[in-house]
Amino acid sequence: MKNNLVIEVVRIGQRLVRDDRVTTHVALVSRAFGAKRIFMTEVNPEIKDSLEKINKTWGGNFVVEFIDKWKSIVKKKKEENFRIVHLTMYGESINAIQEKLRKEENLLVVVGAEKVPREIYELADYNVGVGNQPHSEISALAILLDRIQKGEQFEKIFADAKRKIIPTKKGKNVQVKETRD
Ligand SMILES: C[S@@+](CC[C@H](N)C(=O)[O-])C[C@H]1O[C@@H](n2cnc3c(N)ncnc32)[C@H](O)[C@@H]1O
Repeated sequence: MKNNLVIEVVRIGQRLVRDDRVTTHVALVSRAFGAKRIFMTEVNPEIKDSLEKINKTWGGNFVVEFIDKWKSIVKKKKEENFRIVHLTMYGESINAIQEKLRKEENLLVVVGAEKVPREIYELADYNVGVGNQPHSEISALAILLDRIQKGEQFEKIFADAKRKIIPTKKGKNVQVKETRD
């Protein structure tokens, strides 16, 4: 894996009918598929606690950061030389754009919940479609992260894990690290 690759994610908005579960899954996919941080607006604070518990058990230091305005983060990250990748069914095909994305070093991936503000299409460096059919921010994000890192994200070591899975053909094999607390 490219050592200097930094991927962060921002989720814009949340549906009126609360979709904490989807938001949590967007955060879980970000963490498990190699992103370092997720920014989110308008969410239940319990999501941050859940992800912190996951870090404690399964390692790493993935960060959940609550923000007021998605646009400020997008602009700040642009100034920090991140490329903005907006996932949208209307975008360029991921098959056509993936080689270019693999050459980038700092990426901020933007996913929506409902309809996203028009401005994001202009602010984005890449508007990327994972196919051109509507599906889900969870699947779109997972596929994008996998295409960029070509599966290498799964070789990543999550530091200071209390539990580590030893992959097995059948059953469950989990190494548990003894701690004093
Ligand atoms: C429930 S969908 C909303 C679909 C909506 N029609 C739109 O404006 O794209 C929520 C999010 O999932 C992601 N998404 C859904 N389908 C996608 C696709 N085919 N390609 C890329 N992203 C997709 C986008 O980030 C979108 O904002």
